[in-house]
Amino acid sequence: MRFLRFICASLLLLLAAQPALAFDCGQDDQLLLLVNREHTLDAAWQPDDLLDIAGLAPSTKGVMQLRDAAANAYIRMYTAYREEKNLTLNTISGYRNYNVQKQLFNGKVAGRQRAGQSYQTAFNNTLLYTAYPGTSEHQTGLAIDLSNNAGLSENFRGTEQGQWLLANCWDFGFILRYDADKTALTAIAYEPWHYRYVGLPHSLLMRDNDWVLEEYMDALHKLEPGEYLEYADPADAEMFYRVYYTLDTSDDFADIVNVSSDNCGGYIITTHSRRQVEDLLLAWANSALRTPLLPTSLS
Ligand code: DAL
Ligand code: ZN
Repeated sequence: MRFLRFICASLLLLLAAQPALAFDCGQDDQLLLLVNREHTLDAAWQPDDLLDIAGLAPSTKGVMQLRDAAANAYIRMYTAYREEKNLTLNTISGYRNYNVQKQLFNGKVAGRQRAGQSYQTAFNNTLLYTAYPGTSEHQTGLAIDLSNNAGLSENFRGTEQGQWLLANCWDFGFILRYDADKTALTAIAYEPWHYRYVGLPHSLLMRDNDWVLEEYMDALHKLEPGEYLEYADPADAEMFYRVYYTLDTSDDFADIVNVSSDNCGGYIITTHSRRQVEDLLLAWANSALRTPLLPTSLS
């Protein structure tokens, strides 16, 4: 009987083993790009899967573009929001190409100069709120500015809309990108209106560890080969996500659900696999292997 158990466990382990394949850089969906003053985008960089959500959710502009994944996640989030709240939640800004960002930045500097600031002071103050061209997440098509009215204000955090987003955005794959106590890391002032899509499980890992994207990237960059961050799938208790980081495009991974370059020279690999079967099989096999195959006495 014990021998049979050993054979079965070994066979099941073989059957359960997933073939590990080198990941395909062509799968890179660039949903986890880090974009800041140190990690920039070229002027020509633009997404190729923009969708217009202006007709699908309240917007202050006639066109409100986001990348496909972010647009769909925003509509899901807005739908959930409307099921709970009947208060205005406007989209103010989505995708901005490099030139639009440049015009915006120069316009803000000029406005501060008109208000009496020197060019250098105006430039430095603008940098805190309006990203220098090539350093804006809006160029990725993954960032969205939200408001309870038509403007952007720090007061948004205290509104019902701002509070709902803070509590729920993570479940839809969004993060609050520029939090008040993380300005030293982000180099951007507190912006309670700016949300960034990163997808699951990344938003949940950042929420639970109180990490901004810079801190999440640091944690990933510190992973040794084979190490990972793990997150139980909130939608399926038997499944779990693992997040790996690699600089080596010939590395092998099984059960890949997402590959994204990070704009820092590496790739973030997200896998999704069944926890219970794998864990149970391993436990069963280990106990079978530890148990002597033949009885040592007849008692
Ligand atoms: N307001 C943010 C920082 C941007 O311009 O991208
Ligand atoms: Zn923004």
